[in-house]
Amino acid sequence: MSLNLKDYIASIPDYPEPGIIFRDISPLMASGEAYQQATNAIAEYAREKNVEMIVGPEARGFIVGCPVAYKLGIGFAPARKKGKLPNETVSATYDLEYGTAELQLQKDAIKPGQRVLVTDDLLATGGTISATIKMVEELGGIVVGTAFIIELNDLNGREKIKDYDILTLLEYDGE
Ligand code: PRP
Ligand code: MG
Repeated sequence: MSLNLKDYIASIPDYPEPGIIFRDISPLMASGEAYQQATNAIAEYAREKNVEMIVGPEARGFIVGCPVAYKLGIGFAPARKKGKLPNETVSATYDLEYGTAELQLQKDAIKPGQRVLVTDDLLATGGTISATIKMVEELGGIVVGTAFIIELNDLNGREKIKDYDILTLLEYDGE
């Protein structure tokens, strides 16, 4: 029997700001069964796409991507917030509500031509995932899919990555 994974997402009103509902995957991670079900669904998608490498942005993209990589016996490369990676990197900036943020990916993380799945917990405006995709492509990787546990429909991040295949396990409407 499969679980309804929405039962494992906490909705916290007015966090981090008034009027925002924070969708939290912590209960899903806390349940072995729910975490495994989400991981298996993304792994199945990755297998169909013959993914060779997974890339996820710090921090919650690691939580989603690493168990999928382990399950498939393939590698995972972290896209990290600026200044955390020790070797040569490529970088990409993306917009926050106020100002910009920067992610970096180590240059040796991806081999040219490698089939890559980009994972994150949540698709909101699409800024984080677009920056991650941009770096993978700069290194010659082929982004064959993107996978998220949650999609916030109203923020229309899907539009920003419309050229890519998208798997989302759960959708939410409303702020
Ligand atoms: C959150 C979330 C996604 C991103 C989605 O990460 O984990 O990565 O925002 O928003 P977007 O589609 O508008 O870019 P956050 O920046 O809060 O960092 P964290 O993963 O380190 O908690
Ligand atoms: Mg994140």
